[in-house]
Amino acid sequence: MEKNINNQVSSRIKIFNGADLQRDSAYIKVMSLSDINTTYLEGMQNPEVSKFLTSTKTEKVTLESLRLFVSENINNTSSVLFGFFIEENLCGTIRLHNTNCQIVDIGIAIFDKSLWGKSWATEILKKVVLFAFENYGISHIAAGIDVNNVGSIKAFKKAGFTHVSSTPKKYNLGLAIRMEHKI
Ligand SMILES: CC(C)(COP(=O)(O)OP(=O)(O)OC[C@H]1O[C@@H](n2cnc3c(N)ncnc32)[C@H](O)[C@@H]1OP(=O)(O)O)[C@@H](O)C(=O)NCCC(=O)NCCS
Repeated sequence: MEKNINNQVSSRIKIFNGADLQRDSAYIKVMSLSDINTTYLEGMQNPEVSKFLTSTKTEKVTLESLRLFVSENINNTSSVLFGFFIEENLCGTIRLHNTNCQIVDIGIAIFDKSLWGKSWATEILKKVVLFAFENYGISHIAAGIDVNNVGSIKAFKKAGFTHVSSTPKKYNLGLAIRMEHKI
């Protein structure tokens, strides 16, 4: 069963809200198994996209691993995996996890490099942050970002996140900075 999402602030991006979904525009909706396609697979397998993603370092990305990941998020009440679509084409994913905790974590990936630098991530983050604040009764949302991931740090900053600390990344993958957004 899909988790329901309320529409929030207005921008280029709509958030799926049942009948309000406008498939001709850019929108975010909860990923379902039927959304898994080769764009998703090729995006996650693209070294430029996956360079800073911890998840892709621990296991090989295959259609099967993506199916498992999407179904785990559908069945897990403390996480939600959104797809970012432009005109029905899956262009990226955004994940909220630890939604049952005081501080919710957020991660984002946009698969198509030609979409980078056009403020999509900034807008998506703002939209999903607002969704998290309104739906989970939290006051903090956080992200761990590789220190060298300049584009990501800039997008999170533009979406209202600030640098709070630096920590070693998991699996000896360098340094991460922790950024938080507070109400
Ligand atoms: C990180 C990512 C989500 C940023 O998406 P995006 O849509 O390009 O972000 P925005 O357009 O909102 O960019 C914010 C700013 O960073 C800049 N930027 C984006 N990528 C950049 C890069 N590789 N190097 C330097 N600056 C970059 C943009 O130009 C923009 O700057 P501006 O406001 O001065 O114009 C996207 O590059 C991506 O999916 N990367 C692969 C996965 C990943 O690393 N995810 C983050 C894990 S924490």
